[in-house]
Amino acid sequence: MRKITIAVDGHSSCGKSTMAKELARELQYIYIDSGAMYRAATLFALRNNLINNGQVDQKTLISKLDQICIEFKYNESSQKADTWLNGENVEEEIRQLPVSQNVSPVATIKEVRQKMVALQQAMGQEKGIIMDGRDIGTVVFPDAELKIYMTASEEVRAQRRYDELIGKKQDVSFEDILKNVRERDYIDQNREESPLRKADDALILDNSNLTPVEQLQWALVKANEIIQQ
Ligand code: CDP
Repeated sequence: MRKITIAVDGHSSCGKSTMAKELARELQYIYIDSGAMYRAATLFALRNNLINNGQVDQKTLISKLDQICIEFKYNESSQKADTWLNGENVEEEIRQLPVSQNVSPVATIKEVRQKMVALQQAMGQEKGIIMDGRDIGTVVFPDAELKIYMTASEEVRAQRRYDELIGKKQDVSFEDILKNVRERDYIDQNREESPLRKADDALILDNSNLTPVEQLQWALVKANEIIQQ
C-alpha cells in the first residue's frame, strides 16, 4: 500500500499529539512531535543561562546551535518515543512550565527553525510519517498528501493541559495555564518566521466537542481515502 505524509498543525494544547500518535499507531506510521524539538532547544538555552526574564540571548544561542543534538528513542516501558538532548532523556523536563513559558520566543529564531526544519525533512524522506507542529503543512512538508489543521477553544485547551499536568502531580494553576496558552498562540501566529497558519489545502478539525475516539475516526477516514486513491 502506498505510504503518504501527514502534516498536523494547530494551536497549542488542542490535542494534536494525541490524535497524531494514535493515527500513527493505526497506520503503522512514524510519529514525530516537532514541538518536542523546539522544547529541547529551549531547555538547552535555559540550562546555558541564555534566557533571562523571557529575553533570549539569540546571538549566543545561534553560535551554540551545533552543540544541540536532538534524538527520539523508543521507550519500551511507556511504548512511545522519548526526546533526548545531548545523550540525556529530557522527555519529562521539556513538558514542564519553565520550558512551556519560554519555547515560543525560542521558536521565533530563524536559525533555530532552519536547523529543526532540516532535521524534520530528513526524518520524512521515506514518507509513512505523521508530524505535528505549527508549520508542518506550510513549510516542512508543503507537499504532504494529507494536511490537518486542528483547533479548539482557548478554555477547552487550557483545561486539557491543566488536567494533564495535574495528572502528573504538578503544582499549576488554571489561570497560569490559560495565560500561557494565549501568549503562545499570539506569538506563534504573529511571528515573522513561519507563523502558525492553516495551509490552503488543509482540512480543519475543531475538536472542542469531539472525544479522542471521534477525532481519530475522522482522521482515519480521511487518511484511508487518500491512501487508497
Ligand atoms: O503541546 P503544544 O501543542 O502546546 O506545544 P508543542 O507542540 O509542544 O510546541 C511548543 C512550541 O514550539 C509552540 O508553542 C511553538 O512556539 C513551537 N513550535 C513551532 O514553532 N513549530 C513547530 N513545528 C512546533 C512547535
